[in-house]
Amino acid sequence: QSLKKYNTFGIEAFATEFCEVNSVPDLAEVLQENKHKKLFILGGGSNMLLTQNIDALVLHINNKGIEVIDENDDFVWVKGNAGEVWHEFVQFCIQKNYGGIENLSLIPGNVGATPIQNIGAYGVEIKDTFVSCEAMKIDTQEITTFDKTACKFGYRESVFKAELKNQYVILSVVFKLTKNNHKLNTSYGAIDTELENMGIENPTIQEVSKAVIAIRESKLPNPKELGNSGSFFKNPIVPIEVYEKAKAEYPEIPHYPVSETHVKVPAGWLIEQAGFKGKRFGDAGIHTKQALVLVNYGNATGNEIWTVAQNIQKTILEKYGISIEAEVNVI
Ligand code: EPU
Repeated sequence: QSLKKYNTFGIEAFATEFCEVNSVPDLAEVLQENKHKKLFILGGGSNMLLTQNIDALVLHINNKGIEVIDENDDFVWVKGNAGEVWHEFVQFCIQKNYGGIENLSLIPGNVGATPIQNIGAYGVEIKDTFVSCEAMKIDTQEITTFDKTACKFGYRESVFKAELKNQYVILSVVFKLTKNNHKLNTSYGAIDTELENMGIENPTIQEVSKAVIAIRESKLPNPKELGNSGSFFKNPIVPIEVYEKAKAEYPEIPHYPVSETHVKVPAGWLIEQAGFKGKRFGDAGIHTKQALVLVNYGNATGNEIWTVAQNIQKTILEKYGISIEAEVNVI
């Protein structure tokens, strides 16, 4: 089975076996029956780079469904099953005027993947509205509910990327959203400017979503047109001394405070200043409008993209003394 249409990078790679799973009982059955096989869990395929064939049984998690499970005058608890497309889930909530995830419009991938790396954009992360998720333990098929604390969310981090890596399949996620008095977050990125350009003074969540979509479309390539996985690297969080050292040589280097001792540096800036933006090496390249995004112009292999990525990492380390880490799962 070719995995080309199951990963947004559009990389050709093959799975030894492939199975689509449409419900929780189906998943339990498949896991039980294939206890001794190597398994590979695949969601929306929007955060991975395949550098080889997958010698395993690939389970494509595709359980659909969105449900309001509780509400009061001010809040609503909405549950999305793992196989729902994230942006469709966001649109469902926005149409019902449920606020809190409008800044996360148009992020590729499925609902089930959102807690794994605590997806975020424009000053909002899913941890801000996340209540809990249900997950099935792969080896026992036991279902556990993880609340926010248990997920140990950090910047593009959670327990599911760390000590519980490859042990659970996320089944569904519950978010607590606002029904009124929405807390808009428009100061980050270019949302304010975009809203101004749209001639909007007191935006609704629908309008914030529209502004976010416009900004994303202007910078980020549509995976249907140009293979990519969003930001390829994380923005590095470095000790202030490391930043100061780089700054001595490159005074314009931007930074955002994260704690008393550390600052975050935009990797896109470092990569652009190192001359990589818009560069192309065969079919692998660096996006013309956002240097943090690597792209597949058609027939790049995962290894070709990974080689470009490693070359960027090496150059950034040599030039600025800063290591940048892949955000994408390299397989
Ligand atoms: N920058 C450049 N050149 C570039 C790109 C960025 O100089 O080519 C600098 C600029 O200084 C700019 C700053 O980097 O002000 C930040 O750029 P941008 O707002 O485009 O965001 P980002 O830090 O590159 C992060 C997330 C994105 C998210 C945006 C918006 C990470 C790894 N990425 O990117 O998330 O959409 O902020 O909030 O944190 C993703 O994770 O896949 C993703 C797309």
